[in-house]
Amino acid sequence: MTAEPRALTVLDLPAMKAAGRRVVVLTCYDAAFARLLEDAGVDVLLVGDSLNQVLAGHETTLSATLDQMIYHAASVRRGARRALIFVDLPFLTYQVSIEDAIRNAGRVLQESGAHGVKLEGGRHMGETVRALVDRGIPVMGHLGLTPQSVHALGGYRVQGREPEAAGRLLADAKVLEDAGACAIVLELLPADVAAKISASLTIPTIGIGAGPGCDGQVLVLHDMLGLNDRFNPKFLKRFAELGEAVRSAVRAYATEVRDGRYPGSEHSF
Ligand code: KIV
Repeated sequence: MTAEPRALTVLDLPAMKAAGRRVVVLTCYDAAFARLLEDAGVDVLLVGDSLNQVLAGHETTLSATLDQMIYHAASVRRGARRALIFVDLPFLTYQVSIEDAIRNAGRVLQESGAHGVKLEGGRHMGETVRALVDRGIPVMGHLGLTPQSVHALGGYRVQGREPEAAGRLLADAKVLEDAGACAIVLELLPADVAAKISASLTIPTIGIGAGPGCDGQVLVLHDMLGLNDRFNPKFLKRFAELGEAVRSAVRAYATEVRDGRYPGSEHSF
């Protein structure tokens, strides 16, 4: 009998970086996928507010609510035993005041059983990150293309191309690390900028559209499985074409129902 692998803790994140082990992260929004991703050895399940786009069909992440995030995070938690679970704090649940951030992040941990929260932003979030970490709430940062600021950024575009912008991102990453963040997502950055930030930190960077120099990678699950086959950014690699597999399975089902071939006697009582 093989022993079940030990459950990961947030302390494993810097330890993995120190040991040169890349951190494998995927978004996850429900218990069924949590089980599958864990069976496949994913380290961190990120309950991203991208669920507002992927599951709910909105244009942006901005209208996701804390209650929705908690509902999905609790579902993921019920499907996972070993992986770390981080949950996005949605727009306006941590930017207004540090008190709000503590109360809302606390609710996420208390009501979902997740291990930590992720929030977007650099130096202006330093005090908030420190306040959460001091209260025992692990925090993952998120720099570069921060989707909750999509309107201010003028769209979903690569950040940090100019030397000054790259310098600001490096300084922001340092602020988050000094404030106690346990990892930082770097989204849509030039590969050299992300590699430089990664080399300057002891906590892992988790890249998405940020090149191979990050300490780990994250993708949106539905994108990498081909379930969202209208989304084709340069950084995305599809590891399966499940969109086509679903269409073909459902076509077969519809044909058999219409033909009267399903259910057959073997499916009947
Ligand atoms: O919301 C999300 O899924 C994310 C990842 C894309 C990093 O923040």
